[in-house]
Amino acid sequence: MNRSKFYVTTPIYYVNDKPHIGHAYTTILADVLARYHRLLDVPTWFLTGTDEHGQKVQKAAEAAGISSQEQADRTVVRFQDLWKKLDITHDDFIRTTEPRHTTIVQQILQDLYNRGEVYRAEYDGWYCVPCERFFTEKDLVEGKCPECHRAVDRIKEANYFFRMSKHQEWLVQYIQEHPKFIQPDYRRNETLGFLRKPLNDLCISRPKSRLNWGIELPFDKDYVTYVWFDALVNYISAVGYNSKPELFAKWWPASYHLIGKDILTTHTVYWPTMLKAMNVPLPETVFAHGWWLMGDSKMSKSLGNVVNPMDMIDRYGLDAFRYYVMAEMTLGQDASFTEDSFIRRYNSDLANDLGNLLSRLLNMTTRYNSGLIPAPAAQALDGADEKTLWDAVQATVAAMEQSVADMKLNAGIEQVIVAVRAINRYLEIKQPWTLAKQEDKTPLWTVLYMSAEALRVCSALLYPVIPEKMGELRKALGLKNTKPNVADMKKWGVLQPGSAVKEIGALFPRIVVEAPKTGDRQLELGEKPAAKPEASVPAKEPAPAAVEGVIEYDDFIKAQLRTAKIIGAEKIPGAVKLLKLDVFMGEERRQIVAGIALHYEPEQLIGKTIVIVANLKPAKIRGVESQGMLLAASKGEKMRLVTVDGELASGAVVK
Ligand code: MSP
Repeated sequence: MNRSKFYVTTPIYYVNDKPHIGHAYTTILADVLARYHRLLDVPTWFLTGTDEHGQKVQKAAEAAGISSQEQADRTVVRFQDLWKKLDITHDDFIRTTEPRHTTIVQQILQDLYNRGEVYRAEYDGWYCVPCERFFTEKDLVEGKCPECHRAVDRIKEANYFFRMSKHQEWLVQYIQEHPKFIQPDYRRNETLGFLRKPLNDLCISRPKSRLNWGIELPFDKDYVTYVWFDALVNYISAVGYNSKPELFAKWWPASYHLIGKDILTTHTVYWPTMLKAMNVPLPETVFAHGWWLMGDSKMSKSLGNVVNPMDMIDRYGLDAFRYYVMAEMTLGQDASFTEDSFIRRYNSDLANDLGNLLSRLLNMTTRYNSGLIPAPAAQALDGADEKTLWDAVQATVAAMEQSVADMKLNAGIEQVIVAVRAINRYLEIKQPWTLAKQEDKTPLWTVLYMSAEALRVCSALLYPVIPEKMGELRKALGLKNTKPNVADMKKWGVLQPGSAVKEIGALFPRIVVEAPKTGDRQLELGEKPAAKPEASVPAKEPAPAAVEGVIEYDDFIKAQLRTAKIIGAEKIPGAVKLLKLDVFMGEERRQIVAGIALHYEPEQLIGKTIVIVANLKPAKIRGVESQGMLLAASKGEKMRLVTVDGELASGAVVK
């Protein structure tokens, strides 16, 4: 990472209502980015906070029958508590009612007024109360607010204006010359599109007769500052603009302002022109992410379909939640938040791939080496499979660094899960349970050590996303320093042979859903934690109560199940129940004899993707060789083949 510092901000949140997933998401995103940069040894500053002035807050206070300050004081705690619960590692939390902020806003206003960048004028136009925005006649859409489509009020009053229009040409040129300033690219085009129309000057005052909850204009006691002109300044007031020059020089310009796509104009038109007028350099990047949707509608307070993140965390655990929101959303685009996709992702990535790998390793280390990390062969990485695996894991380290730099976090996370799968595959190829029967234990030790080392590196890469669980995993692997660092992440041989692993229960117990679901079920409005135990995370994996002859997982995976595509099928003369099938398993062609002739016509079978036991010893059945066995389910008279649910290449591992 070639950054000398990383300063990341979230929007500051309105204190008119309780936090929702939109707030939680941006803050987790900032947290994950901050943690990655700290992991990579880049000096990092992470700022979040609350936007406490303005009409929204004043109205909420009036509705609750309390003062606006009281409203802010009560609500800010909800945000601060949520950040604790979400394990957010911000370095500073700014409230816009703090004197360190209000004095700076007033200084800026006075300076701009003195230099003629702010002027007084009579305003006659349209005003949208919910959006707190002024519009000209041409801005309106069918006589309504162009933003929220609600009715607008005609307003005629004296106000103060910021000469935003005079910076229009400069801004367009700046955006064109600095492609990184607005990201993703399609958002840059959106702002450039907006700037094709002439820019108006920005009304930056509100008469106290209409709104009294705001920062008083230093040059006119009858007015308070427009909430956005106050709020945007937080990004510099918090890092010592005009008060702590050294701090300011250290952190400004910000590396990233993370925002939701709905507040693009304020951040890419108002804010840069304000900074230009103040002679302050612009932030490096304003990054606008998409929205979490429920079905097709956006979640917002005004639509009243807000999912309370607290509920989701209580239901599935904090790290499951952090993982889901980071892995599921392609940065920049909208994503659908559904409980089904949550469970699917959790079970496949966390429970199956990651959690099972840890269980297998701990299990085998306990069984084969009394719970101690074994010493690998001296030149372990000379082995072809070992070298391939280690190279793949190190390539994942580089890929993750690049994904963070390119704001493609979900792609980086996906790469780590691919690496985890590669470790699982390595174990399947090496079959430590077979190696354990050999006299010479070095090959077994090498496989166990290699897998644990590779998993250690993956855990470092996932640590910024799921810190609690990766801390547990690292402790279980016998690491003293559960917090990863960049040097160790790139080094071979960090796990100490002889150190004790710690057997823990399932790191990510499978979420068991009883009834099969058809399609995605959207979260219900204000849905409470599910009362049904099958939808909640069980404390431990459910015991296979009614099943006899319980086997170990290691026994189960001895059977290598693979998908295979049927390319030919014919009857075997003289054998009424048998069919001879020709299948492709990946590149390999095989012949399988199966007792399914009473249930399927040969033609019916062509093109089907079935599941076969690939490592079954070949056998002759009625004189015809069978190189494997297919899986089928039967009850009474009926028999159906086991197939896969949708398109999948043949040769895929089934487990
Ligand atoms: N106070 C202003 C920001 C001032 S920054 C100088 C504000 N606050 S807010 O509380 O209304 O919204 C904060 C953020 O939440 C916005 O970035 C908005 O995009 C985001 N979200 C609100 N609902 C959302 C989703 N459903 N999904 C993702 N983010 C969305 O605006």
